[in-house]
Amino acid sequence: MYLGADYYPEHWEKERWPIDADLMQRAGISLVRLSEFAWSKLEPEDDLYDFAWLDEAMDILNEKGVKVVLSTPTAAPPSWLIGKHLQILPLLKNGQRMGFGKRRHYCITNRTYYHFSERIIRKLAEHYKNNAQVIGWQVDNEFGNPKCYCDNCKKEFQHWLKLKYKTLENLNQSWGNAFWSHDYICWEQIPLPIVDYHNPSFDLDFKRFFSDMNVKYSNMQIELLKSISPDKFVTHNFMGLFPELNYYDLAEKYDFVSWDNYPQGLEKRFQVALAHDVMRGLKKKNFWVMEQQCGCITREDITPALSPGEMRLWTYHSYAHGAEAVVYFRWRACTFGIEQFHSGILQHDGTDKSIAYKETAQIASEIDRIRAQLEGSKVISPVAIIYDYENIWVNYSYQEKPMYNYSDEILRFYKAIRKKGINVDIVKPTDDFSKYKVVVAPLMYIVDDETANNIKKYVKEGGTFIAGFRFGIKDRHSNIVKSILPGKLRELFGMSIYAWDNLRERKIEVQTSSGEVYQADTFADLITPEKAKPLAEYKNSWHASYAAVTVNTFAKGKSYYVGCGLPQGFYDKFIAEILKGLVPEGIKVPDEVEITLRQKNGKKFIFVMNFSDKSSRIFLNKEYTELKEKKKLQGEINLDPFEVLILL
Ligand code: GAL
Ligand code: ZN
Repeated sequence: MYLGADYYPEHWEKERWPIDADLMQRAGISLVRLSEFAWSKLEPEDDLYDFAWLDEAMDILNEKGVKVVLSTPTAAPPSWLIGKHLQILPLLKNGQRMGFGKRRHYCITNRTYYHFSERIIRKLAEHYKNNAQVIGWQVDNEFGNPKCYCDNCKKEFQHWLKLKYKTLENLNQSWGNAFWSHDYICWEQIPLPIVDYHNPSFDLDFKRFFSDMNVKYSNMQIELLKSISPDKFVTHNFMGLFPELNYYDLAEKYDFVSWDNYPQGLEKRFQVALAHDVMRGLKKKNFWVMEQQCGCITREDITPALSPGEMRLWTYHSYAHGAEAVVYFRWRACTFGIEQFHSGILQHDGTDKSIAYKETAQIASEIDRIRAQLEGSKVISPVAIIYDYENIWVNYSYQEKPMYNYSDEILRFYKAIRKKGINVDIVKPTDDFSKYKVVVAPLMYIVDDETANNIKKYVKEGGTFIAGFRFGIKDRHSNIVKSILPGKLRELFGMSIYAWDNLRERKIEVQTSSGEVYQADTFADLITPEKAKPLAEYKNSWHASYAAVTVNTFAKGKSYYVGCGLPQGFYDKFIAEILKGLVPEGIKVPDEVEITLRQKNGKKFIFVMNFSDKSSRIFLNKEYTELKEKKKLQGEINLDPFEVLILL
């Protein structure tokens, strides 16, 4: 369980380095990430290398026991490289070449860029392969943007399509190119999606292609690093709920996933929790936070500073959800550059007087006390939510704007489950569900045979499955299915859907069988129950003849269908009823307090976190030991603002 910082020695004069190393040691920072955007300092001219400064900085850090994660610097190609090979710069959708002066300014399919990337990575890896201070590598920085629309990308796309569809007849058929005369008669005619309102099948394949190209470039880096320094780990800093890459594919060859966590406000706590769980789900194992917010940050604006205690709260929140290391972005606020207003652990003045520095020291000393017990413990969950990138993408019918917000649809269920203190795993549609009591699938457009059989098998053997609206409406080409909805799983749900409505501004009420009335929102699948039992029905207008929520018993299991969006209060009650037996006993907390469990050798570590700037009260009905303070606690307990307890 490392506590670290993202450090940029190249931003400071050499004389400062020993002071930084000393301050790090005093605060308990035992790891830094280096060299992330340092290409112009590592290779100042074409094929001319200078690692001496990095060696020197690392030696200074080593004296203070600080380990290193080195990054490949490819997220920021230097000006000499762009000057020689302008075509590395991405061609934007509007036909303009991206200018030099930001970062991530490279076309992901560019062969020349592959060549120069490989060369600098090889040099770095050879130089540091036997250096024990370097424990691992980070590849690039935050893959995913921008998209490039150059001729080479077009050729690669056409090639990708040829491999996939083999014949043009097959492609024309699969994309439904009969519509608006879109049939192609040669591969070279297929454009990149520059026009809006393109064909959704085309759009989906372009998204897959773009994701594959990122994975390919990323895998090149992983394989190269592994071939030269096989005993160091390789990771990448993912972006939580970023929707544009298939993160399962991207994660496959990394040793573990890392991600960059900028919560930006207490009200984001469920999104952040979900993002942690998505990151843990990518490889089904614990992860790192490679950039953790430690103060105000700059995007378009300067966000509010963190209140004292908040950085510590978010840090424990990361550990609670399965982080093995938390690395703060960044060690010291930079005085220049685009992020000059972005906080660091140290502020611009570089003194140990900052709030974040003091807090870091506190966190580090606490972690020292609990490390041995907590390290390697796992987040074990009785409930799973399906999270699937193709289902995110098919929801983008018109390219730029999704019809419905995928993560918001997940969050409705997720919040209700988390509020009960129940851990959630994030899974793929084809994973083995047998270890879960409940599996939830919000906004799951695509249900192919494999997925349908997987769900059926799970419910047959006693599982509980909950589907959200628009379940199974599409096939793998993003075309609508011809069968009666919910398609392949109609029998499982014991009902049919012949009609639906896009609610948007419309006010339609839903009444549950126990009499509560809620206003439906977003979308309404209008359900005709057959074997299923209605749990809620639409009330007004012509919708009133249909059910809104149903449950069906299927073999040994149950399947629920929630046909429309509803206020959070509905999900809270609905989920509480279904998950009755799973709620951890013995601890009562109000809504602003999160409970999350990690487990190891039969021991349960209960993280209790107060996501409020006010005191909270919780109730423990038996005696627990608080791990950090080694204190016994029982009964009614006062939680200070942002307080965290780890109970055993
Ligand atoms: C991250 C990025 C960092 C830094 C940070 C600022 O997304 O990886 O390099 O820019 O944002 O908040
Ligand atoms: Zn390109």
